[in-house]
Amino acid sequence: MTERIYNFSAGPAVLPLEVLQQAQSEMTSLNGIGMSVMEVSHRSKHFEPILAGAASGIRELLNVPENYKILFLQGGASLQFSMIPLNFLKTGETADYVITGAWGKKAIKEAKRCGNANTIFSTADSGFKSVPTQDELNFTENAKYVHYTSNETIEGVEFKYDLDGKGLPVICDASSNILSKPIDVEKHALIYAGAQKNIGPSGVTLVIIRDDLIAQVPENQHSMFDYRLLAENDSMLNTPNTWGIYIINLVCQHIKGHGGLGAMEKKNEEKAKILYDAIDASDGFYRGHAERPARSLMNVTFRLPSEELEKQFATEATAQNLDGLKGHRSVGGVRASIYNAFPKEGVETLVEFMKEFAQKNS
Ligand SMILES: Cc1ncc(COP(=O)(O)O)c(C=O)c1O
Repeated sequence: MTERIYNFSAGPAVLPLEVLQQAQSEMTSLNGIGMSVMEVSHRSKHFEPILAGAASGIRELLNVPENYKILFLQGGASLQFSMIPLNFLKTGETADYVITGAWGKKAIKEAKRCGNANTIFSTADSGFKSVPTQDELNFTENAKYVHYTSNETIEGVEFKYDLDGKGLPVICDASSNILSKPIDVEKHALIYAGAQKNIGPSGVTLVIIRDDLIAQVPENQHSMFDYRLLAENDSMLNTPNTWGIYIINLVCQHIKGHGGLGAMEKKNEEKAKILYDAIDASDGFYRGHAERPARSLMNVTFRLPSEELEKQFATEATAQNLDGLKGHRSVGGVRASIYNAFPKEGVETLVEFMKEFAQKNS
């Protein structure tokens, strides 16, 4: 098959076709140099503008102030679960965690190895269907930071506001909704995101970190965990993921060319509305997982009347080139991930399929 299909995968996920085509056209010879981006030194004059372009692309799109560094690291968002407490939480100290889904649970598990990682709010008992309001959050006095997950990819619940730490440094795992809408970076001390949903391929992690947090990195930190060293070396303490950074640069240019994050947000709201409206209009055949105010614009999660029907749904959808709809193995159901690069026509095609499927099977 040479034609593209509708790819609802949660990550690695669909990338803009124009980006893939540009990468394809430059695959064997980047800018006529006779080598691909994967074959040149990360310290060469060929790679320098790519790294600078990716960093300035992120800075421009997210309006990142000058007192923040932009890093492209490895180890996935999962390594940040550890790197954050390894740098900012010592034995005897407390950090606050807001747990709204599976990824937040993984983050706090690592933090507990370092100090008192305190769950100040969790929606676990109600099945991770909602997020707290700002007023529901009571922070621990003198906590080192508060951590939250702006979009829980597995359950499909999303914060609709940037959390205010009321003086505490705010750390956000934004892996699955970064670049999907404008955010207020200045409310955060550190934002991190695995690239493989909205920014690029897997294997590179974006970290946006404020200078005053970098200043708190302990002396004698292991080099590859040391945000200060990583920042001083411009993400090149070791060989970075040059291919990943190259694609990030192209994705940033693509988003800028399509109106920036305001335009992304508008398009994402339109796409998600089409899908949630179809769920709500199905007379209960489809049941959305998330409570309405917390519905994710990126990962639309829903159930069918039985697990058999859910299986059948995913199989029949795949046969019609609607791929990647099976819910995460830990929760089941159906999940349609509709990141920036996912086209509106794909959502409309899915909704048509859903209507027919419900008609045949109710
Ligand atoms: C919200 C969130 N955090 C963290 C991760 C883990 O990312 P990685 O696989 O890059 O370690 C994911 C999944 O990819 C995620 O969706």
